Amino acid sequence: MSRLTQCLVQVRTKAFAKLAIAGVFLLVLGLSISHIHNTQFLGEYLDPAEERQIEEFDFADTEDEKRCFDGVAPGPNPIPKIVHFIWLDNPELNFMTYLTIRSAIVSIRPERINLHYTSLNETNHWFLELRDHLYLVPHDLQKEYPKQLEEKWETKNISDLLRLDAIDKEGGIYLDTDVIALRPFDNLLNSRTDAVLGHADAHRNAVSNSIIVGRRGSSFIQRWRASYENLSSSEDDHHAIALPKKLSLDYADDVCVLSPIAFSWPTWSENHIKYMHQRLSKPEAKDFAKKVMWHNGRLRQNQMAYHGWSQVASSQLSGLDEKIIMRDETRFNILARRFLL
Ligand SMILES: *[C@@H]1O[C@H](CO)[C@@H](O)[C@H](O)[C@H]1NC(C)=O
Ligand SMILES: *[C@@H]1O[C@H](CO)[C@@H](O)[C@H](O)[C@H]1NC(C)=O
Ligand SMILES: *[C@@H]1O[C@H](CO)[C@@H](O)[C@H](O)[C@H]1NC(C)=O
Repeated sequence: MSRLTQCLVQVRTKAFAKLAIAGVFLLVLGLSISHIHNTQFLGEYLDPAEERQIEEFDFADTEDEKRCFDGVAPGPNPIPKIVHFIWLDNPELNFMTYLTIRSAIVSIRPERINLHYTSLNETNHWFLELRDHLYLVPHDLQKEYPKQLEEKWETKNISDLLRLDAIDKEGGIYLDTDVIALRPFDNLLNSRTDAVLGHADAHRNAVSNSIIVGRRGSSFIQRWRASYENLSSSEDDHHAIALPKKLSLDYADDVCVLSPIAFSWPTWSENHIKYMHQRLSKPEAKDFAKKVMWHNGRLRQNQMAYHGWSQVASSQLSGLDEKIIMRDETRFNILARRFLL
């Protein structure tokens, strides 16, 4: 029984009942206000009840999720351990990108990191720090995506296509530049399916395109890519989140979809972002650090990565640098520290 129900059951007298009704009204009002706030970024996928259970929410893997997570014995055609990052329209790599690429180097130990880019300042500090680990893949969007540019697609929307094209062409692991990889991805590389994705919300209604693991020529990725051909640019949210979910139901034999914990927990809600970035007291920080150590550097054993949700947490993320991560006790900083040299 929830605490609210317990309270309501105990309230017997009429006067108290009136108070309770007022309380419920205020609660509902509060929830709808927070909901309105969340709808700015796919709020329809979030549920205030789970919102409050960041640590306790029971994400028992489904049978399929567990099978996908465990993978199969190494076979003759593993997904290559190549990590793809996309960095378009900005010559200056920033600290957050440095941090995410460092996390991939440390956690995934890739054979190669492909940095797909349109222009780069090769004397940028962060670029120089990473230089030896990067394989540069220049792109000319005018040549590769003329139709989309003509239709005035934004760069971030073109990036939705480029990631699918990169996996289709070469295979590997695509990561957004706000994804902190927290463990090796080896368990996914011998997947029985040619594509592995993760649920993005507690109800498993959304599948994210922020992390995509796939074999070259995956039919699932190709179908997903083809579905963009007739897309008007205003429908992108649907294609990034709801469409892969729909495709994963229609073509269940071609894709593995992991539990929300694997790639997307905590979520992008205001509450969860605050949970990750608020300053902790000394005892809270110690407690959290212990928990993370217990889980080998993660919040849960079956968490593969932390998605930083830069769409909604840009103010929190863009303020970070090495000094702040080492100095300030926040959950995000405690997770990220081990990736700094
Ligand atoms: C490239 O980065 C260096 C180092 O930060 C900076 O001094 C230089 O002005 C940048 N070049 C351009 C063309 O912006
Ligand atoms: C896109 O539209 C064209 C012309 O209307 C159609 O022939 C094609 O099958 C469509 N492609 C997809 C992937 O829906
Ligand atoms: C680009 O994608 C975003 C969601 O990621 C969407 O809200 C926006 O409408 C799209 N814009 C264009 C011009 O494609």
